[in-house]
Amino acid sequence: SRTTPAVARTPEELAVLRSRLEGRVALVPTMGALHGGHRALMSTAREQADALVVSVFVNPLQFGPGEDYESYPRDLDADLAVCTEEGASLVFAPSVEDMYPGEQIVRVDPGAMGRVLEGEFRPGFFSGVLTVVNKLFNLVRPDVAVFGQKDAQQLALVRRMARDLNMPVAVTAAPTMRDPDNLASSSRNAYLSPKERRSALALSRSLLAGADASVTGPVGILSAARAVLDEAAAGDPPVTVDYLSLVDAHTFAEVPNDFRGDAVLLVAARVGQTRLIDNVPLTL
Ligand code: PAJ
Repeated sequence: SRTTPAVARTPEELAVLRSRLEGRVALVPTMGALHGGHRALMSTAREQADALVVSVFVNPLQFGPGEDYESYPRDLDADLAVCTEEGASLVFAPSVEDMYPGEQIVRVDPGAMGRVLEGEFRPGFFSGVLTVVNKLFNLVRPDVAVFGQKDAQQLALVRRMARDLNMPVAVTAAPTMRDPDNLASSSRNAYLSPKERRSALALSRSLLAGADASVTGPVGILSAARAVLDEAAAGDPPVTVDYLSLVDAHTFAEVPNDFRGDAVLLVAARVGQTRLIDNVPLTL
């Protein structure tokens, strides 16, 4: 049995509680509605540090107009229960007013890497993510921070930010957790009706088809994945693809057909009102 973590609701409380932590500190930033994917990050983080800090904050800066900021699931008591089970020492759950007491004038610019793929469909998203992650790094001062492969472009951009801005934190990745039907675990899966969920399984199926074709090279990979998505586009309910792309894992530039190295096959699609993303890392 575990002891409940200390909870800091303000940066001031965090400073006091953080100063009491001993040894290496790991941070897992989240927006709450914690599920198996978040748990996997926390257990990876615990292996890499002496103390685990989890932040729970639905960051308004990364939501666009018409997105689900207001309806995003919020249940701090349930999140604290998960953090207790996963052995967190400290949970930072600030209010919007505490994180953004005035207008956030200065923001992190993710550059060209933040304008493609997710960045194209969600303008301002990665600037909002990197800005809050930078603030959380400065507030918590972790030795290591753990991010999920599920959000591959976010992970790559956080890594790049830490490197380009000389942040004294080691960024590590945890693999994508999947539900038993292979749908990537996500807080937004709760929005799916059973029929929508069945349609949504085309995302992971398409990635698997692409991965199975990996010896055929980029063109073959993309056409195998595309075939699955084309079929799902005619399904009931339909899957509407925002993008399917095979990119260099480090730069997120589309790979040429003779590419060798670490790549990521990514898909984003809408089913009903719900937007879903998934990806699979491939070594070409
Ligand atoms: P959130 O969507 O809550 O995700 C928090 C962390 O959990 C991210 O690093 C994400 O990649 C990881 N994660 C989510 N689902 C996962 C899964 N199925 N398998 C493995 N890891 C998974 O991502 C955010 O919040 C925010 O953008 C944040 C980084 C907290 C900044 O606001």
